[in-house]
Formats: sequence, structure tokens, C-alpha cells
Amino acid sequence: MSNAYAPPAELAANAHADEAKYNEMYAASVADPDAFWAEHGKRIDWIKPFTKVKNTRFDFGDVSIKWFEDGTLNIAANCIDRHLATRGTQTAIIWEPDDPTAEAQHITYQQLHAHVCKMANVLKDMGVTKGDRVVLYMPMIPQAAYAMLACARIGAIHSVVFGGFSPDALAARVNGCDAKVVVTADEAPRGGRNTPLKTNADKAFESVTGDTKMLVVKRTGGDIPMVEGRDVWLHEAEAQVSDECPPEEMNAEDPLFILYTSGSTGAPKGVVHTTGGYIVYASMTHQYVFDYKDGDVFWCTADVGWVTGHSYIVYGPLANGATTLMFEGVPTYPDASRFWQVCEEHKVNQFYTAPTALRALMGQGDNYVTKCDLSSLRILGTVGEPINPEAWEWYYKVVGGSRCPIVDTWWQTETGGHMMTPLPGAHAAKPGSAMKPFFGVQPVVLEPQSGEEITTYPCEGVLCIKDSWPSQMRTVWGDHERFMKTYFSDYKGYYFAGDGCKRDEDGDWWITGRVDDVINVSGHRMGTAEVESALVAHPAVAESAVVGYPHEIKGQGIYAYVTLMAGQEYTDELRTELSNWVRKEIGPIAKPDLIQWAPGLPKTRSGKIMRRILRKIAENDYGALGDTSTLADPSVVDELIENRMNR
Ligand code: WTA
Repeated sequence: MSNAYAPPAELAANAHADEAKYNEMYAASVADPDAFWAEHGKRIDWIKPFTKVKNTRFDFGDVSIKWFEDGTLNIAANCIDRHLATRGTQTAIIWEPDDPTAEAQHITYQQLHAHVCKMANVLKDMGVTKGDRVVLYMPMIPQAAYAMLACARIGAIHSVVFGGFSPDALAARVNGCDAKVVVTADEAPRGGRNTPLKTNADKAFESVTGDTKMLVVKRTGGDIPMVEGRDVWLHEAEAQVSDECPPEEMNAEDPLFILYTSGSTGAPKGVVHTTGGYIVYASMTHQYVFDYKDGDVFWCTADVGWVTGHSYIVYGPLANGATTLMFEGVPTYPDASRFWQVCEEHKVNQFYTAPTALRALMGQGDNYVTKCDLSSLRILGTVGEPINPEAWEWYYKVVGGSRCPIVDTWWQTETGGHMMTPLPGAHAAKPGSAMKPFFGVQPVVLEPQSGEEITTYPCEGVLCIKDSWPSQMRTVWGDHERFMKTYFSDYKGYYFAGDGCKRDEDGDWWITGRVDDVINVSGHRMGTAEVESALVAHPAVAESAVVGYPHEIKGQGIYAYVTLMAGQEYTDELRTELSNWVRKEIGPIAKPDLIQWAPGLPKTRSGKIMRRILRKIAENDYGALGDTSTLADPSVVDELIENRMNR
């Protein structure tokens, strides 16, 4: 049995939930979801209170998910207005800029209200109305949060595109939802370098098909061209509008946002989240999982371009009247002490980051951590990928001084909020285990082939969820068929997460990683099909197959096998060119770490690429290739092993 780290007694005694409370609440949540969520739905201010709670079906062909469907509310009002009377002068957002010598900003709830109302009025003036889509392509600056909340305030649907994505990826997402406006900034400083966001957006607009306008935030003052009649400076437009904007009354099931995410096939899909269930669940998980208390300073290091930034920088914390920290920079600039200096300076109580960052920092030595005063820290969290026990122990001992429970939170863009995690005052955490389901979540282990539920443990299989929870994605934007096919067709009657899992002898849950063709690079999801299609778009490439391989820092690296067109020469220059090509097509996170020339790929006689074999070779584990007898030409395997890149 692995080590288990029980919460300090005092922390458990004062936590929102100790073990008994968790057990009681969890049992209630699954015994009668309607009663449980009717009660917890009240944590949100409704304009018209709901009378219906749960109305959900997981039937393939007829999947429908509705929560609180006759209630109305406004999320911006819940994240801002309702706090004004009691905490108007409290800091809502602490913004820590990239440059460590620049002043941090403290934005109060009152100020947040004014900023959001103004931006909402500017968007309205640009023609945005309820139900319209607005794409955000932003640095990590407070205006990113203002823009999200401004959309929520007027009932527009936002789609945040990570600032590291390429112009092509941006254009696809703008066209995909036919956005009225793209909100961006002149440049995005990160790690001392400026990404030319506006220039990238201009390039994207060359292939934008609709009549889309651009709203531009001045961040660096860099010299950028503005297109007359299309581009608007935020600071100029804001000077013309009121700082009051009445919140739109939204139905619980009106869409709040679209967020594109990679799957195992095809182009990234637009995950749709709606209003009522999302905010109930995001705020509740933020409170319980991080044991958030009034006055705490909460820091989630994610980018707002990912779901973690949506739920745990902006919506969850602000709905709870929290002080949330937004960090523009990177963990290693100007040096590996940056995270810990920010924790010290702002007396951070909850710190939430990704295993990849921890692994990178761990390698730099403990001194970067121990020279900072981290006594304010109470809870540590991780998300995005499985955490290896070494990184977990380092986080616990060196960063947390063996006092702070670690919450290893398993969830997905699709789930909107945490699905499995220890609660900090309730569970003795085991390094690497997601431990327990959150309230209302009913995970099951299925036997991968038969799809039978495995109810005894220890056991291993694929991870599915048996019944709906309030912040579940509702559909794929514009493609409900794809939604049903992706998540409800492999195992009928269940939501299939795409992950494998284990339960140990105590019944605790362990996530073992993706079981589909999605690779997890530094906690970012990348579909192998996406990288392959970028590669074959290059004129020299005939065919490619992309797989993941174990990478010390990133968790998984991208390994690409490439077959060139007849007559092309296999050169090192071309290898570099292809790497840069993928970077340009998708973005730096998709750049292959290793490219192996593969004049032949292992295929079955029916022409199907045997990815299992390619994965084994990439993992440098070719001793256990398994059955290769069905290959059309087994000799290609020897050739691939001979020339493998990951020795
Ligand atoms: C993986 C991020 C192990 C998993 C919130 C999932 C994890 C995918 C964990 C979703 C964790 C996330 N332990 N694996 N604690 N958290 N994952 O949509 O494979 O960017 O399916 O959402 O990340 O990634 P996404």
C-alpha cells in the first residue's frame, strides 16, 4: 500500500468538510440528486428561482442534459454585483505582471464592476447582442477576465483561444462559431518576450469569412497597425461609455462559453457549457476542494485559454467572492523562484498548478523554494495530467513544508469542474491518486472490451461516469451528433471520459492516462490526428503517424513518424522545417519533439497503421511489440527500430 498523508488535525477540524461530512454529503448526493442539487443550487442568486433540478438522459442517439432548466440568472451579477454591498472594497483580482519589477494591481469588486460594465457597453456598441459569439485571444491580463464577464453580463457566448495558438488555429475558431468580435491585445509579454497577438490576429483575419470586428487592449504600447472601420481600441471606446450596464436575464441552459479541445479524431471540437449548472458546480468545487474561506488569496497558475482558467481563475473564485490571483508570466522567469516569490509577496493561501511545472522546477534545486517564506500556503493543488509520486512528494515536502494537503484534481474541459479529488480536510491523500469522486459524481470502471461494470477492487479498466452532474458539457457547438458519438457511443448509457483508471485495495481512484489517441503534453491536450494533418499539409510529406512517448518534464512528448513523397530527400534541414511547420500551423505546444523518417509504416494487410507498434518503438520498449504477424511487411518494423530517435 502506498503512503497516505492525512490532513493536519486542525485543518480537518476547520475544513468545510471532514471525512464524516464528506461521506454524508456524498451519500446524499447520489441517493437523491434532485434534493441535493436543489439545496446547493441556492448558493447562486437566481433572478427567477428554478423549480426543476435535473433532467438528463445518457441514451445514445438521444442524449440531453439540462439542469435547473426553468431558472434564470446572470453569472456576472453572481460574480460581481451580489458582492458589492458586503465586499465592494475587497480585492477581487490581484494581477501580477510578467515583469517582476512592475507593480502588481489590486482590483476591487467595485472596480471590477465598473471595468466589466464598460467593456460590456463597448461590446454592445460594436453590435454584440445576447447569443452572439465573441472570441478572446488575450494575454493573462485583467482585461481577459473583464471580457469574459462582460460577455456573461450581456448574454454573449465567449470562446477563449489560448494566446499561444497560431493565426490558422485562431481563424478556424473564429469561423467555427461565426464570431461578431475578437478581443485581443497589442502584445502579450511572457517570460520577458512579447508575443505579437494583434499581428497574429491580423493574419488570422485574412481567412476570417464573416464580418468580424476587433477590440484591442493596449498592453505594451507596441507599434501595431489598426484597420479603419474594423479595429477598435478598448481605451478609446471605453471613454465613450457608461460604467453601468444592467445584467441580462439568462436561462440556466443558455450557453455561457465555447472552448475548443482536442479529441482523438478530426479537428478540435467546441465544447459548450451553459449557465446555471456550470456556476453552481464551479463555485461549489472551488469552495470545497480548496477549502476556500473568506479572506483567503487563491492562485491558479493556468492560462485563461484553458478550462482551468475559466473555472478556477475567473468563475468559481469570483462567484464565491474570493480574491483570485492572475499571473501573466512563467514559472522560470526571471528564475525558478518566481512562483514562490509571488506566493510570498501576496500571501497566497491556495496554490494550484500543473505537474509539468513542478517537474521543471524540481530539477532546479530546492533553494529557489526554501529561500521564500511560504508560511501562508494552506492547500496545494495539481491538475492536467497524472502526477508522478516523486513530484508529489517534492511538492508536499519542499513547497508545502509537509503541512499542506495536496488535492490532485482529475477533470476535463468537458466536465466543467473537478470530478475526482481528495478533499483537503477529509482524505489522507496518496501520491498520484485522485482518491474520491466529488459530490454528485458517479464514476465507474468498465471492462474495456465487454463494457461491463467492475464493482470489486482492486481493479483496472476504462473510466466512465454513470450519471450527469451540473457542469457537464451540453453539446459540441453546432454538432450534437459528434457530441453523442464522442462521449456516449463506445459504452452505451455512460459518459466515456477517454481515460483509463484503477481502483486500489481501498477503493481509491487512480487515473492512468488517456486510452485514446490524445496525448497530454505539459498538461495540454493534443490530438495525434491534428498533428498528423498539419504534417501531411506540408508538400513534402506523404504520410505521418504521431504518438506520445514518456518525457521527463512534459509528461508526454510528441513523436512523429513521417513518410516523404517519392523523390523527396530525407534531410536534417527538412526535419527542422517540418517541426517549424507544425508550430506555425497549430502553435508551439504542438511542435513534434522527435521526428523519425519512416520510408515505410507498419500496416495491416487492409492498410491500417498499427499504432500500437509505433507507440512501443517511441517508448523505446520494442522488446515487447506483441504480435506482428498481421503486418503486410514485417521488415519495416526492424528498420524503424534501427532508426528510432528515443534511445
Ligand atoms: C488529464 C484539464 C490525471 C486526463 C482540466 C483528462 C489528469 C485530460 C488530471 C483533460 C489528473 C486532467 N490526473 N490526469 N489530476 N487532470 N488529466 O480537457 O487525461 O485540458 O482526460 O482539462 O487531462 O484535459 P483538459
